[in-house]
Amino acid sequence: MTAMVEISELRKTYQSGFEALKGVSLEIREGEILALLGPNGAGKTTLISAICGISVPSSGTIRVGGYDTITDYRAARKLIGLVPQEINLEPFQKVIDAVRFSRGLFGCKRDDVYVERILRQLSLWDKRDAKIMELSGGMKRRVLIAKALSHEPRVLFLDEPTAGVDVELRRDMWDIVAKLKADGVTIILTTHYIEEAEAIADRIGVINKGELLLVEEKTALMTRMGRKELVVELQEPVESLPEALSGYDLDLIEEGRALRYTYDTSADRTGITKLLSDISATGLVLRDIRTRQSSLEEIFVGLLQENAA
Ligand SMILES: Nc1ncnc2c1ncn2[C@@H]1O[C@H](COP(=O)(O)OP(=O)(O)OP(=O)(O)O)[C@@H](O)[C@H]1O
Ligand SMILES: [Mg+2]
Repeated sequence: MTAMVEISELRKTYQSGFEALKGVSLEIREGEILALLGPNGAGKTTLISAICGISVPSSGTIRVGGYDTITDYRAARKLIGLVPQEINLEPFQKVIDAVRFSRGLFGCKRDDVYVERILRQLSLWDKRDAKIMELSGGMKRRVLIAKALSHEPRVLFLDEPTAGVDVELRRDMWDIVAKLKADGVTIILTTHYIEEAEAIADRIGVINKGELLLVEEKTALMTRMGRKELVVELQEPVESLPEALSGYDLDLIEEGRALRYTYDTSADRTGITKLLSDISATGLVLRDIRTRQSSLEEIFVGLLQENAA
């Protein structure tokens, strides 16, 4: 798959002297959905602003669709749609005019058929003649998306599209993102909701303090996440696993003082109850049991803690 966005050694130091991005390198493939997770102040908006040409990087390069975002700014920018974190709309403008105007800014010819299509897709068609100020917060978010899509971009950035949005609108947003992906649009979204990243992303990137800590396929992360460990501590250590337990996926750990059973949390049956009674049947005495699960949340929190050290 070809890279749609190529970021190399990107650094951004604000005028205050604060270094918000510390050498970020990342390739975003055409047609994928990448979710960027990170706490407040991690640098997500700074990264998006740099890619969209809203702020100038201190060093490093960015290419979008092969165009350098500095030397080929207009060509690169035309490929990009941006849904900003902050709502910045003209209160007195009509919905349909806001969208047409955005399209015009990119030098695209007026296209009423296309504008109608996106307004319908975003359930805004009935509101097309309403003034922005008459809309609810959720509808304003939809208008931001319609504007971002007005010039038929190939890459869409959504900066916290579902912050402060109700469950229904969040689901609608996910559907919209899925449809755009089906049309071949590359999507990068930032979010604080780990479930959101789980629900819609192909890959997940974790950013903290201006550094990209991890970028990984969601399914690979989910596989790790689906695994859970049960550790059975024994009263007395054993030399080897009893023959009667050979049918279980067990490891002897902690110098024979504990058995570790790994199982898949998504399976219908974990087999724990039977395992525990089979262990008792061998005459082994249990001292304690504990479980642990590696979830995306845990991976995320763990990464942030490591990074804080
Ligand atoms: N114009 C600016 N001047 C100085 N520092 C800035 C500026 N804009 C952002 N910062 C700082 O850069 C860091 C990253 O900010 P950024 O907005 O990129 O974070 P974020 O990951 O988008 O956070 P959030 O989840 O809160 O939106 C923060 O410490 C912020 O205070
Ligand atoms: Mg932000």
